Amino acid sequence: MNSCTSYRRGASIEETGRIYISASLLGADHSRLREAALEAARAGVEYLHIDVMDGHFVPNLAFGPGVVAGLRDVGIPLMVHLMVTGPERHVEAFIRAGAASVTVHSEACSDARGTLATIRSLGAYAGLALSPGTPLDAAAALLAELDLLLLMTVNPGYSGQSFMPEVLPKIRAAAAALRGVNPAAMIEVDGGIGPETGYLAAQAGATILAAGSSLFARGDMASAVAALRAAAARGSGQRARAGL
Ligand code: DX5
Ligand code: ZN
Repeated sequence: MNSCTSYRRGASIEETGRIYISASLLGADHSRLREAALEAARAGVEYLHIDVMDGHFVPNLAFGPGVVAGLRDVGIPLMVHLMVTGPERHVEAFIRAGAASVTVHSEACSDARGTLATIRSLGAYAGLALSPGTPLDAAAALLAELDLLLLMTVNPGYSGQSFMPEVLPKIRAAAAALRGVNPAAMIEVDGGIGPETGYLAAQAGATILAAGSSLFARGDMASAVAALRAAAARGSGQRARAGL
């Protein structure tokens, strides 16, 4: 999924054991989004995470398909996180704009199964997100039908919040459940991720770390990415040594 020609569905999204970093643009300076995206790509993150908010499912407002279209040539896949009510109305516009993956919230979607199928049929990777208070059970029947399970580690809506450690058991349970039914699916965590919490999430089984303020609020993004990657590698190494 990292070469410019393979953003669309095809080969497995995951290389076993590897942790991917997704830079969440909500944490960047919004007056220079394109520069921030290019800086993230140069710093070596694998993905850009683009939050979409409707002022209804979450109180905040953010990025539409025009922003995605304006970033489609930055050189890394664009992963869209829809925090909107009725996300099925919008998936096509974001995929046409260049999204490699679209993730919808289970709490916001009346037909999650149909929406995941639509995303896949339009050639993108399909993600399902759960807010911290939503149990894994809400995704249980859909685990075979998604490419990505996004477990929110803050309540959705704002960058710069603190990681909620009570989500860690859900990450562990998701990793165990996916191993049986859909081992190629990725587990993304989103919210309050930096080296310390990225380590905990990777140890629990997360494979994509979305990080906003910890990457963009520091002067030197390359060193922030390196610190997060090193911490995540320690976490996934421990997991592997424990035979998980
Ligand atoms: C929050 C968003 C996140 C946010 C993460 O609702 O979905 O992607 O940008 O920002 P940090 O990493 O600052 O918590
Ligand atoms: Zn997000």
